[in-house]
Amino acid sequence: MRPRYALLGDPVDHSISPDMHRAAFRTWGLDAEYVARTVTADEVGQAMRGAGLAGGNVTLPHKLVAAETVARASRAVQATGACNCWWRAEDGELAGDNTDVGGLGLALNRLGFKAENARVLVLGAGGAARAAVHTLLEARASRVEILNRTPARARALRDATGGRGLYVVEAPDPGMPYDLVLNATSLGLSTADPLPLELDRGRFRLACDLVYAAGETQWVRHARSLGIRAGDGLEMLVGQAALSLRRWFPGRTPPVDAMRAAAVEALDRREGGAGQGAAADR
Ligand SMILES: NC(=O)c1ccc[n+]([C@@H]2O[C@H](COP(=O)([O-])OP(=O)(O)OC[C@H]3O[C@@H](n4cnc5c(N)ncnc54)[C@H](OP(=O)(O)O)[C@@H]3O)[C@@H](O)[C@H]2O)c1
Repeated sequence: MRPRYALLGDPVDHSISPDMHRAAFRTWGLDAEYVARTVTADEVGQAMRGAGLAGGNVTLPHKLVAAETVARASRAVQATGACNCWWRAEDGELAGDNTDVGGLGLALNRLGFKAENARVLVLGAGGAARAAVHTLLEARASRVEILNRTPARARALRDATGGRGLYVVEAPDPGMPYDLVLNATSLGLSTADPLPLELDRGRFRLACDLVYAAGETQWVRHARSLGIRAGDGLEMLVGQAALSLRRWFPGRTPPVDAMRAAAVEALDRREGGAGQGAAADR
């Protein structure tokens, strides 16, 4: 039978995940299907357990429910409480991973970021910030500072993670420079949004935006205009999709270039090449 994979979330209509995965299947010459399905929180577990699917991805707002549904949770799922990728293990049990964590690691490598002993400023304290903090601490960043509109949420993230080297701040430290500043807020999804943070070159060596848009985000363009090396969230999105494929098809190498090209084309098509805001895969 033709293996079938699905993206489960609400909404999923603007997702570009199907474009990336279908490009991978085409490149491999594999007869497999990837569909997007809108499901409620009550339907997620049943859809994941159902016989019709070999595995898939889960997006907002269901990553926490998915983490509770899988029987074999990876370390990243246990640490973040979120699962965005599941499949059936050899014993028939549902297994899950948080490939956003590894996807961000791949994106940061591509940006030239060296985590060891690095000082990082993370903007935001939601699900994406939680994955980012886990990625950075696992990679041995020495100091990770969280700056969030609602400081109580930043403190809750710090306390839940309990990692050494994690601090809550109310503003960037004007003293020592940061090796990386990472936007994990949802600012940038709309072109009407203010920048998540005004940057200056002396203080920030690299900037990584988890938000992505056709033609890149305003914050990435702002960083580049100051001579700061920057990348948006498209690379993380491609990375998490590639790592999902590795989970479903062990031993195969995901065709990352074809997937990235399909993602860029789909974003251009869906946003008309001008606007921002169709980041449905989160
Ligand atoms: N590239 C990828 O593969 C990928 C993966 C995951 C997520 N993302 C991106 O990451 C973003 C965040 O996702 P999430 O799951 O963490 O969402 P979330 O849990 O809803 O968190 C949203 C964060 O944005 C902050 N925020 C929202 N509006 C703001 C405003 N007007 N001013 C300042 N801060 C504001 C919130 O602050 P408060 O706590 O004060 O509300 C919170 O920290 C998404 O929009 C998505 O684009 C990308």
